[in-house]
Amino acid sequence: MAGSPESLSGQDVGSFAYLTIKDRIPQILTKVIDTLHRHKSEFFEKHGEEGTEAEKKAISLLSKLRNELQTDKAIFPLVAQFVDTDIWNRYLEYQQSLIAEDNGQPRWFYSPWLFVECYMYRRIHEALIQSPPISDFDVFKESKEQNFFESRESIVTLCTYLQEVTRTLGELDEDQLKNEFFKFLQVSLWGNKCDLSLSGGESSAPKRSVLDSLEDLKPFILVNDMEQLWSLLSNHKKTREKASVRVDIVLDNSGFELITDLVLADFLLSSKLATEIHFYGKTIPWFVSDTTLHDFHWLVAQVKHSAHQWTAQCGAAWESHVKTGSWVYQDHLFWTLPHEYCAMAQVAPDLYADLQKADLILFKGDLNYRKLTGDRKWAFTTPFHQALKGFHPAPLCSVRTLKAEVQVGLQPGQGEALTASDPGWLTTGTYGIFQFDRSP
Ligand code: F6P
Ligand code: MG
Repeated sequence: MAGSPESLSGQDVGSFAYLTIKDRIPQILTKVIDTLHRHKSEFFEKHGEEGTEAEKKAISLLSKLRNELQTDKAIFPLVAQFVDTDIWNRYLEYQQSLIAEDNGQPRWFYSPWLFVECYMYRRIHEALIQSPPISDFDVFKESKEQNFFESRESIVTLCTYLQEVTRTLGELDEDQLKNEFFKFLQVSLWGNKCDLSLSGGESSAPKRSVLDSLEDLKPFILVNDMEQLWSLLSNHKKTREKASVRVDIVLDNSGFELITDLVLADFLLSSKLATEIHFYGKTIPWFVSDTTLHDFHWLVAQVKHSAHQWTAQCGAAWESHVKTGSWVYQDHLFWTLPHEYCAMAQVAPDLYADLQKADLILFKGDLNYRKLTGDRKWAFTTPFHQALKGFHPAPLCSVRTLKAEVQVGLQPGQGEALTASDPGWLTTGTYGIFQFDRSP
């Protein structure tokens, strides 16, 4: 689009995009292939010879994919019919049209990183669609569940704290309530450190209680618009002009991060800062740890059946929020397309119209930020509003730890100072932001 900087891509040798395509994505594919191998007997027990054949087929398709990637082959159209196949292939044609040389063939290292990385996860799904009867097998399920189990202690601490705060809510003055709101927001922010795509699928459970670390982590928040979130929601509550206040959370990772999001969502309801929460998840396994409908219900059920009393109470409350409709879980195929969010109004007008009904939208995680900003080489000082390129369904806030070389809305000199003091600041998940855009 005119006026926008170019996309991040694997063309820039040594960049994080380049290293991701060269090293991290093949590593993730190898892990997926291993996972299928390890489930061989399970597939046989369930489906007999057909299961064994399906496992072999999926593995051969995935090995082919890994080879295409490592030898920088052309990006092929998807072949298996699925709800989004045509949209994907149209997007591929659009990418072709952008390339004049090389016979218009997008390739792994030369096309936009956002496109090829999404395409890789969609091809993993395609390998499974083409391998019935194991098409529904979630190759990342084990890692997501492991992350949950390894976070058990932190989950208990967090749920216990939530129950304590909920019991004393009536005694809190305005400042104390705001202070708790900020705590739950920060817990949700740092929960985003725990994604499994950055770690190549290896464990990334929290090492110590997030609640105890909040003060130490404050200097790592590079853009902090928490005050604006507070004034937006507390004003709605004070004026009572609206019968319902809806906060939408575009979810990122399952496991510990999802717990931190549900804890925040629970607090928003019990403090009456919101009356309704809508969660958005993925329709297919995505970027290793992203939340699907199955993950959402699995996690709530795990919490509910916890042996720890306060934790189990949280799970029971969450289940009842879902039943009564004060929590709504929705998915939409747009979230697993490669498009930047500024294209949502055209590509998924129904989803855009739905988001317009929110009073506030929280976009969790790094991939959402890349899609909000188009994954482009913006100057660090570009206003967030400008980088959104017209995507303004409702007041929105990115809650994200930095894991990709894109960041906007910084103060002059801030990015350069960070590069000097910590060259990995953009990609290690060490830093975080609450970046708000009010104006529709
Ligand atoms: O490279 C790290 C990465 O795989 C990015 O490609 C992606 O943006 C991110 O991890 C996923 O992180 P998150 O789960 O926060 O969206
Ligand atoms: Mg993720």
